[in-house]
Amino acid sequence: MKIALFASGNGTNVESIIRSVETGQLTAEISGIYCDVATAKVIGRGKKHGYPVYVFLPSDYQSRRAFEEAIVDQLQQDQVELVVLAGYMRIIRYALLDHYTNKIVNIHPALLPQFPGKQGIKDAYVAGVTETGVTVHWVDRGVDTGPIIAQEPLKVDPNWELAELEAEIHAIEHRLYPAVLQSIIEGSH
Ligand code: GAR
Repeated sequence: MKIALFASGNGTNVESIIRSVETGQLTAEISGIYCDVATAKVIGRGKKHGYPVYVFLPSDYQSRRAFEEAIVDQLQQDQVELVVLAGYMRIIRYALLDHYTNKIVNIHPALLPQFPGKQGIKDAYVAGVTETGVTVHWVDRGVDTGPIIAQEPLKVDPNWELAELEAEIHAIEHRLYPAVLQSIIEGSH
């Protein structure tokens, strides 16, 4: 299955997906990395592994609709079947959802519906929860609201600093996301 990876920042989840493809754990073909931030570290990661990196900046387009249409054109040119959001910090609304209905998957660093939005780890930490975790879900028109595919809980040690919680969450993400993507490819969802 041809997949596209969308990211806005560091790209450690992109890296873990790429490595899973390289080791054969994930039987997907990565058509390219799509990024919406010109300075994002993920751009270098994608290039290092030899993948096309497409930087689509919203500021280059007259509207959000035109921005998403340009992305869809590239996805269709590459015959992408599944869009994988891996730290893509932008709400998807228009052409992307129309053309890839039920074909966009996202990872979120909390147990949805708890702590949606841009800082799920920090919000859970500040709230002082005893348990948080990671969610993989289909993307719909809401913010982190689509049908849940998989969740993995994590007990929070009350002595952890925020950075320790972040490290634990990312470790789960890097294991969980490639495994869930493989189960999607095998038709389990
Ligand atoms: C990840 O923790 C991901 O779950 C989160 O952004 C981080 C990206 O890290 N996504 C969201 O919060 C989406 N609402 P990475 O760039 O190192 O993969």
